[in-house]
Amino acid sequence: MQVEMKPVIRVEKTKNSKISQVDFSNLPFGKVYTDHMFICDYKDGQWQEPKVIPYQNISLDPSAKIFHYGQSVFEGMKAYKDKDGKVWLFRPLENQKRLNISSKRLAIPELPEEIFMEGLKELLKVDKNWIPQSEGSSLYIRPFVFASGNGFHASPADKYTFIIACSPSGSYFAGKVKVLIEQTYSRSANGGVGYAKAGGNYAGQFYPTQLAVDKGFQQVIWTDDTSHEYIEEAGAMNIFVRINDTLLTAPTSDRILDGVTRKSILDIANDMGIDVEVRKISVTELVEAAQNGSLKEMFGAGTAAVISPISGFGYQDKTFDIPELKNSYAEQFKKHITDIQYNRAQDKFGWRYEV
Ligand code: COI
Repeated sequence: MQVEMKPVIRVEKTKNSKISQVDFSNLPFGKVYTDHMFICDYKDGQWQEPKVIPYQNISLDPSAKIFHYGQSVFEGMKAYKDKDGKVWLFRPLENQKRLNISSKRLAIPELPEEIFMEGLKELLKVDKNWIPQSEGSSLYIRPFVFASGNGFHASPADKYTFIIACSPSGSYFAGKVKVLIEQTYSRSANGGVGYAKAGGNYAGQFYPTQLAVDKGFQQVIWTDDTSHEYIEEAGAMNIFVRINDTLLTAPTSDRILDGVTRKSILDIANDMGIDVEVRKISVTELVEAAQNGSLKEMFGAGTAAVISPISGFGYQDKTFDIPELKNSYAEQFKKHITDIQYNRAQDKFGWRYEV
């Protein structure tokens, strides 16, 4: 079936909702799933009939290429419910476009915007009651595409599956975030897949991150793969640094994810008249700033992490604490962004999207 401009989505509702079993006052991150999911297969060179179906297991042949060659990409988004019960997304077309940028790099067929957006809207309509309304909670949305076609030949699959699954979620981090500047392992390289949200990018971080966790850190800050002298990103989030009153972040590249929260912060900061520099940040500069007191803040930014203040960083065998700051940039940006997301303030940038 050829999918036309506005796809017709078949909806099959569950007969056994799980919602009454969920404690919405105590939500973990990404562990509870809604009653339905959106699914659309690709075969014979075309995306097939899109469907909303009850959330369920999927059946795959052991030779499906996702298992052997990791051909898969994903996105992270959130839906927010305002005090009147209206549902909002934040810059959803940025995620839709980035999914296709990632897919292209992994030789996965691109997904038409209409399937992504109409599928997402239909799913959110069906699972509307699952969208939390309380402060700090939202519906985490995970769109992903993977190679469901078979074969041990190391080449792109002939079949793919696109799914959107949703999870009512609380905070990504449980408490304060301490990061370790990584100088042995690399997350990405020039010409690689670092800019794509490829599943394997995350799997490759688990082992070095586990080593950092064993030393008392929650996350790794990746440095460039050649000199290990410039900080890049933190894997689950982009990184910002404030030296005196200047806000700094690394430029996006082949190696760094072009985060939606990252670019929103840059727009907000520029609009607030903050001095912003998008440039390489060396570890030497960071350590010096921590030592002379000009390092005022560090924070991570991402859809899942929102804006997460960093309380200190480890470098080689030293730890540098970053004292808590009142009225920090992190606090101001977080308020600004979440006020837009939860429809509590004017949206001068036009980022809010009503479902
Ligand atoms: C997100 O922020 O949504 C991400 O995809 C990061 C993920 C590792 C939780």
